This record gives sequence, structure tokens and C-alpha cells, in this order.
Amino acid sequence: MTRILFVDDEPNIRDGMRRMLRSMRNEWDMEFAESGDAALLTIDEWRNAGKPFDVVVSDMRMPGMDGADLLARVKEISPDCVRLILSGHSDTASIMKTVGTAHQYLNKPCDPELLKRTIKRAFALRLLLRDEHLQKVVGQISSLPSLPVVYQEVMSCLQRPNASLGDVAKVIGKDVGMTATLLKLVSSAFFGLSKPVSTIERAVSFLGLDTLITLVLAQGIFKEAAQIRVPGFSIEALWQHSLQTAGAARVIAAQEGLDQTTLDDAFLAGMLHDIGKLVLAQSMPDPYAEVMRQTGNGYAATAEQELLLTTHADVGAYLLGLWGLTDAVVEAVAFHEHPGAAPTEALGLPAIVHAADRLARFPDQADPCSGQLRLDTRCLEQFNMSERWPIWQSAWARHLAGGEK
Ligand SMILES: [Fe+2]
Ligand SMILES: [Fe+2]
Repeated sequence: MTRILFVDDEPNIRDGMRRMLRSMRNEWDMEFAESGDAALLTIDEWRNAGKPFDVVVSDMRMPGMDGADLLARVKEISPDCVRLILSGHSDTASIMKTVGTAHQYLNKPCDPELLKRTIKRAFALRLLLRDEHLQKVVGQISSLPSLPVVYQEVMSCLQRPNASLGDVAKVIGKDVGMTATLLKLVSSAFFGLSKPVSTIERAVSFLGLDTLITLVLAQGIFKEAAQIRVPGFSIEALWQHSLQTAGAARVIAAQEGLDQTTLDDAFLAGMLHDIGKLVLAQSMPDPYAEVMRQTGNGYAATAEQELLLTTHADVGAYLLGLWGLTDAVVEAVAFHEHPGAAPTEALGLPAIVHAADRLARFPDQADPCSGQLRLDTRCLEQFNMSERWPIWQSAWARHLAGGEK
């Protein structure tokens, strides 16, 4: 049973929630609290009874402790708990208070189906990551680090009196950490967007310059990368590889005649596909140093599975799912190392990101069956990759030469 705590100071909203979620009572163990203080007591009681909550859904505006303060406390005492905030549109300013504490934001009044889906999805992700220590580590991450040079560039861009959204988007798009952090914020249902946002241009223009300035300069949502104590691990190299994979994924999707939304998703999934490596290197430097020693900058997933009992693909997908990014992107990240195992029949994003990763690493490798590439054998057969490889390869070469956007 998934254990969920709902917190709202208005009795009729709590009653409404109870009614609306009655159908879930065989799957969910639900509890309702009327304030932040009452919620903390309940969390404590249930924890002492050996039944910690899996999900806390809190209202934002409440007398006394507000939703942001409550979730900050929950993050401290129970970091693996999924934290959702419910808020009204007029609360755009106060929602900014929760950027470091809530995993996702839902709009009030909340559509019951959306609430059910969000909770079920967040919980299903745990199957990807069974290690409780890692669930806690990933649950606490509120943003991904940025390369210092790009961070400085964004800062000075935002402080310029004549800064334009286009300029800012261009700089943010050069950094994996900032892209992920901003899409986390804008992907949430709070903003009531009809279509998911998968480009940084849309995310930035949606937020507007003033909100962006507040988020970056006052709230400090972007962070410069700190030194990682893993010999041979370089965040610069990882971000560089991610950007190249993103570009190659878009080129492949374009060659396959896929639509613009898929092209954008392919780019984003390529950019984020290896972020689990950063999480692992940061959170378990010693074991990860052994992974690096065995694999260098090569294919780490097998050594990760052996030494850490998980892979960067699972960790990355878990984080992005928790942050509310689309299923398409989460699935591509989860399966990018073994796309043949993905539940898709056609050439989909997992296979595209997989091939893009190889293309980014070995742009000159002409033989798709070469052991160096280690292309997924099921994919090679199923999606005719042997024939497609030379086409993708020359398109990527043209792209690198600047001949194609
Ligand atoms: Fe990877
Ligand atoms: Fe990769």
C-alpha cells in the first residue's frame, strides 16, 4: 500500500479529497492533516509505527506553517518521501519558495485524475530504484549543478539592462544542469500548460524575464558545480558528451522524418541521458571511482550494476520522473543503454538516444556492427540500424561541419 498524507487547512477541501479519492482506498493508505504542525506529528507517529509516508501532498497557503515550510521539514526528516504542493494560480510568487523542496507542483483545484496519475507515477518510479539510500539521495536533489563558466555567463546576461529572453535561453541551453532544473520547474502541472515543455526556449519565454531573474538571482536555483572527488570523472566532459548526444539525437530523429515534438524530446532526452552518472559520482564517490577505474569514460552500466546494484540510466530516469518530466523523456533515459528492452515496437526515443550516444562517441566508426560501438543487438535487427547507421553518420558529420542545423 502506498501511504499518502494530505495536508490542507480547509475542512471542505479535505472532505472533497476524501470523497474524490475513495476509489483508491484499496491501494492507498490515506491520512489527512489540518495544518503543518498536525502533519509533522502524524508523520512522526506513523514513522514510529513502522509505516513512513511515501507521499505528502500539501496545500501552499495555510495559517502558521505554510506548505513550503512543511515540505522543507519533510525533506529533512524523510528525504525519500515524494513531496507535492497544491497551489492556486495567484500564488506564483509563493510557489517560488518551494523550488528547492517540492518535487512537483499541482494546480488548485486539482483534477482528481491528474492527482491520481501523478502519485501513481511517482510511486511506480521506485521500482526503478529499489535502493533506499539512493532514493533518499535522489529525493533531496533540487537542482543539478552548472559549469562555472556558463553559470557566470547567465549571471551577467541576466544583470544586463537590455537582456533578451532569446539571449538568456541560448546561454541556459548550453548547460545540462540549468536545462534540467528549469524544465523541472516548468513541467509541473501548476502552470497549467496544455502541452509539455521540452525546449528551453519555451520554458524561458513561458516564465518571462522577471520571474527568471527572481528565480536565478534571488532564489539561486542554479548552482555552480563543485569539485567531485572521483579520479577521472569530469563534469565538463560529461556535459560536453551530453550536448553532443542531444545534437546527434535530434539529427537522427530528423533523418527518420519524425515530427517537431519528437525532435525536441530527442534533443532533451539526449541532453539528460547520463545525468545519473553525476548523481552516482557525487553520492557514492568511492564505489564510483572503482566504476571509473574499470571503465574509464566508456560504457559504465555493466560495472555500475555489478558494483552499485543500479545503473546511471535507472538513477537518472528516477530523478527526472520525480521532477515531472514527460514519460517519453523518462523512458528514453531509463532504456538508453538497452533500448531493445524498451516497451516500444517502432524506432523510438530510447533507440534514438542509444544510437546518438554512439554517434557522439565515435563519429567516424563506419561499421555499425563494430564491437567498439556496442550497439544493442536487438535494436540492430529490429530497427534496421545497420542500414540506417551510415545515413545518420553522414548527417551528423554534415551537422558537425556546420552544414545543417
Ligand atoms: Fe549512458
Ligand atoms: Fe552517454
